[in-house]
Amino acid sequence: MLFSSCPSIMSDTCHKSQMNDQYSYSTLVLDLGILKNNMALLFITTPSRSVEGWIKEVKKLNPSLDVRVFPQIGNPDDIRFVVSWYHQPGSLKQFKNLKCISSLGAGVEFILEDKNLPQVPIARVVDPSLVQSMKEYLIWAVLHHVRRMDEYSECEKKRSWPVAPLKVSRAGEICIGIMGLGQLGREVGKAFVQLGFKVCGWSQSKKNIQGIESFGKNDLVRFLEHSHVLICLLPLTQETENILNKKTFSKLPKGAYVINVARGKHIVEKDLIQAVSKGHLGGACLDVFRKEPLEKDHPFWKHPKIKVTPHISSITDPLSAAPQLLQNYKRALSDQPLLNLVDRKRGY
Ligand SMILES: NC(=O)c1ccc[n+]([C@@H]2O[C@H](COP(=O)([O-])OP(=O)(O)OC[C@H]3O[C@@H](n4cnc5c(N)ncnc54)[C@H](OP(=O)(O)O)[C@@H]3O)[C@@H](O)[C@H]2O)c1
Repeated sequence: MLFSSCPSIMSDTCHKSQMNDQYSYSTLVLDLGILKNNMALLFITTPSRSVEGWIKEVKKLNPSLDVRVFPQIGNPDDIRFVVSWYHQPGSLKQFKNLKCISSLGAGVEFILEDKNLPQVPIARVVDPSLVQSMKEYLIWAVLHHVRRMDEYSECEKKRSWPVAPLKVSRAGEICIGIMGLGQLGREVGKAFVQLGFKVCGWSQSKKNIQGIESFGKNDLVRFLEHSHVLICLLPLTQETENILNKKTFSKLPKGAYVINVARGKHIVEKDLIQAVSKGHLGGACLDVFRKEPLEKDHPFWKHPKIKVTPHISSITDPLSAAPQLLQNYKRALSDQPLLNLVDRKRGY
């Protein structure tokens, strides 16, 4: 059965009853009574985020659902639930009967940036498929770097067999520093612990996670000094914007590697280029950018020590995450507390 067992990521974070509810396929299929004719769920996404897969999955779970896709909104008074991926600021205030706004992914900064946001609860996706995908990407990025695979690729291109293997540090000598020990960061950290790396993490509040040395908010410098590889998995908020800058980089050990899979606005790009070009940083792997798609003439593309991927580290899988969207739709319609609620004040 597809949703018969509760994925491990949820076990830390939600109550048992909530989990059963969230992953119960049959509850959703049976749950038709609550919907009336004038109730619709609206998807608003960017052209690069197709909603076809989402519509297919939510319809599978509840065939009678009225699902609309922006700009085909029909009567705006019908819209009760909006699923947003970068909606136009101001475009949601026309929905007078709106009960909830959900992000299509884990991040919500693009929702909170909207100055005309209706005063309804905001939810986000917390999903095991997002975690799995992020773990895979980061394990690839870290191992590719520490095992010096770019250099071996160059040898391969030249059909050149190195005289001796390139020197590499052992996993136990390398500390992976993770900024943000939330739903993603803590699981990523555990994966690196399992691979034998040292792992430390930095978060608003200190955590107690086996194998991970946790640093609280006021201990940023000590955390950075430990981190041979720095992974950013912070939400984008007023406090975290531009957090990866000249000063931050200067606290990292010489030769440190920076991986950003959170948001482009966490990094001051010119500071990163300078720190890499001057040799203080050993390189960087970037999946997210201030402006996406990354402009064709952006210096990141051709920098030999900066790896670029097109925001693909972890994409929400509709098959896995559609049930929680519908659970929240159901909860919003019946004024029950939402799953994966966002704290507007904190910004995540
Ligand atoms: N590139 C992609 O494809 C992709 C995919 C998914 C997600 N993301 C990004 O990853 C981010 C993280 O996702 P998540 O689900 O793990 O978020 P989350 O569960 O909300 O966790 C956020 C973590 O950051 C910490 N934090 C927040 N503000 C902080 C601050 N000012 N100083 C220190 N620590 C701070 C929090 O500390 P506390 O635990 O103490 O509150 C928490 O540990 C998302 O917001 C999104 O932008 C990117």
